[in-house]
Amino acid sequence: FTPKTIFSGIQPTGVPHLGNYLGALKQWTSFQNTETESTKLIFCIVDLHAITSPQKASNLRQWKKEMLTTLLAIGLNPDRCIIFEQSRVPAHSELMWILSCISSTGRLSRMTQWKSKLGISEEHHSLEDKSTETLKLGLFSYPVLQAADILVHRATHVPVGEDQAQHLELTRDIVGAFHHNYGKVFPLPATLLSPAKRVMSLSDPTQKMSKSAPDPKSRILLTDSPTSVQGKIKVALTDSLETYGITYDPQKRPGLSNLIEIYAHIQGREDFEHVASEFEGLTKKVFKERVADCINESLESIRSEYTRITETEGDGFLEKVVREGSAKAANSAEETMVKVREALGL
Ligand code: ADP
Ligand code: NA
Repeated sequence: FTPKTIFSGIQPTGVPHLGNYLGALKQWTSFQNTETESTKLIFCIVDLHAITSPQKASNLRQWKKEMLTTLLAIGLNPDRCIIFEQSRVPAHSELMWILSCISSTGRLSRMTQWKSKLGISEEHHSLEDKSTETLKLGLFSYPVLQAADILVHRATHVPVGEDQAQHLELTRDIVGAFHHNYGKVFPLPATLLSPAKRVMSLSDPTQKMSKSAPDPKSRILLTDSPTSVQGKIKVALTDSLETYGITYDPQKRPGLSNLIEIYAHIQGREDFEHVASEFEGLTKKVFKERVADCINESLESIRSEYTRITETEGDGFLEKVVREGSAKAANSAEETMVKVREALGL
């Protein structure tokens, strides 16, 4: 028997953006209210994933602090959730090695994330392709580490954005292969898709909002000032179909529809057409001002809590939170590793 266990992770590569928040983090905090006490909530700052592209040590340390501060600022409670750093729990890496011994490289070569990170087309999937000369083993096997993150805590539910759904499928395949070879140890983890599956870039609404896109105006960070939010929304790419007013049509009007979705998701709504109809007769300029106001209202308490933690709590407090969280995570992982080593004869 495995108790309901919700696990998710986020890379410490700077302050999260609105896509991370609406697609993942907002849901993490809501579990604290919607789940019963018996549900385990485990949230991981995945620094081992962050080094799949090389980082300066001082940057990585700073980003981990910023990420932990953000997780606390959005309302995650360390008494209710296990919040920890991946590299402080070596069982994640140990299980990854074991899982890589049963993971197919052909299957991994068909994953899309390494291709998009290398900027190559999704149709390419041959490891002999010239573009893979630059492909590092760590980036290629990233989904196996992700599978280990999930399985080492015997998670039953994994909340993620749509971009990660493919990796969850791989995780379930790896569970199948493990059970076939060594017997049943893991529950089959279910994907919990967030209502905000894909928040799009503000400057190119055909792409998802992302930390790594070169244009800083393409994303809103949770710590952006109200003026910065207003500015970014004001120049967000929409279209010139002015005569249609404010309408929801993701195919023909992706930019405008993305703003409508953002506005709706912030309020926990998914009736996008209805939201659009509430703006009937307004100009795009006024509509954008309303969207910016709505974003700013929802970020206000996050920003002020972020500032409070940074200014009054300091590094000692953050270190204590992450140390205690990592100790709890290590216990949870070790319970699984005892079974895993036993199953393999290690
Ligand atoms: P990024 O893709 O910006 O590097 P991560 O890979 O650390 O961010 O993702 C953290 C979480 O945020 C994942 O659950 C992911 O699915 C979600 N996420 C990232 N970008 C978006 C987006 N644009 N829309 C919805 N969810 C997103
Ligand atoms: Na991602």
